[in-house]
Amino acid sequence: MRIAIDGPAGSGKSTVAKEISERLNLPYLETGLAYRAVGYLLLKHYGMLNDVSWGELRPLLGRLEIEPSVGRTVVRVDGKELGEELRSEEVGRLASLVGTIGKFREYINELFRSVIGKGQVVVEGRDAGTNIIPDADVKLFITASPEERARRRYEQLIGAGKDANYEEVLEKVLERDRRDMERKDYPFKPAPDAIVVDTTGKDLETVLKEVFSILEKVER
Ligand code: DC
Repeated sequence: MRIAIDGPAGSGKSTVAKEISERLNLPYLETGLAYRAVGYLLLKHYGMLNDVSWGELRPLLGRLEIEPSVGRTVVRVDGKELGEELRSEEVGRLASLVGTIGKFREYINELFRSVIGKGQVVVEGRDAGTNIIPDADVKLFITASPEERARRRYEQLIGAGKDANYEEVLEKVLERDRRDMERKDYPFKPAPDAIVVDTTGKDLETVLKEVFSILEKVER
């Protein structure tokens, strides 16, 4: 099965994608991780940035490798695998800036299609169902209210022993949503044939039950 999973930041889409990949033994492509790796490269190369151009990005891209595997996506920069350093707030902000560059999206989507090939796969990310595998057998759009997404992020930060303020986290969620939805090139929107799963107020088990029942129906 080829499965595309989209949704806004903090909707739980990565958790759902990873579970599907592991339970069905399918390679998992977390596209956001590639955007984050490029954000990380930019940060190392140029320091803090508020704007970025294709000209600045282009020379860095040869250093990036992406490999989907069951339960996780391996991302390497200069041959070295990256992990937690990709999950920081700053790297996420740069990844979102990178996502506004249409030429980059064309480049990376082509790279994604070449690493996936024609096989079975779970592709997770902003335009999985609209651009990367438009031929997917099933397209899921996992979402939740901005307040719920901010609350989850806030609890994650507190749980990790970090200082956090809920109002600030909510403001960042709304800002990220705005940037992703209002960008000129490939604005983020659900595929017309996507099935929407709203996770607001639901625990993970409830969401997974819903998701696997959708997948079973598609398989039949
Ligand atoms: O899914 P994530 O939060 O790790 O993604 C980080 C940022 O990368 C997100 O805010 C926008 C960008 N991105 C994108 O534009 N398109 C994708 N397919 C994946 C991520």
